[in-house]
Amino acid sequence: MSDALNYLLKVRKNAIEPYFKALKEGGKHLDVKTRSLLSVITKVYAQTETGLKQYLVRALRDGNSADEILDAMLVCLPTLGMSKIIWAVDIILQMNIPDFNPELIGKEKKWHKLIVLNEIDEGVSRHDYDGRACFINKTNDEYQVFDSRCPHQTTDIPFSALKGSILTCLKHQWKFNVENGECIENGSRPLNRIEFKIEEGFLYVYS
Ligand code: FES
Repeated sequence: MSDALNYLLKVRKNAIEPYFKALKEGGKHLDVKTRSLLSVITKVYAQTETGLKQYLVRALRDGNSADEILDAMLVCLPTLGMSKIIWAVDIILQMNIPDFNPELIGKEKKWHKLIVLNEIDEGVSRHDYDGRACFINKTNDEYQVFDSRCPHQTTDIPFSALKGSILTCLKHQWKFNVENGECIENGSRPLNRIEFKIEEGFLYVYS
């Protein structure tokens, strides 16, 4: 939330609170993916760069693909106008998000056979697949799988950034606890979890 809204919430609580309530109530019949797409569109319309970056990452985290985000913007072309869409795409390209790589656009999510279960080390390990990577945290035969891309601006976090159970993104130093994915310093969002399944002794990831 912006400093201005925080300020107004403090000094004009009764006037501002209904605004937030209306926003929340207004979206309650929409699914999470649609709500986050609409948030992206509002940021493109208002041309707020920080907001666009924030909601873009959230839209991806909520399960939208890069194709769906581009479609949402283009379907709003009559309202947004091409210049705002170009403005947004320039920002998206600067963010260097792999999902928007032209070679990956149009590709559906699928299951990737990642590794034989008994080859996964206890603790945290990093695994590459199809030009991407993930961290697996294995504790007493329980598994958690996290995207190696930072939830801030999608920087790929290397294994060398892991000290004990703390993973530090090299770009802006957000710190994460890989035991649960929570962001514990400098940032505000947890590591993105990757859906996985175990079948016939293999661990598969869905991305
Ligand atoms: S990209 Fe900013 S902290 Fe990771």
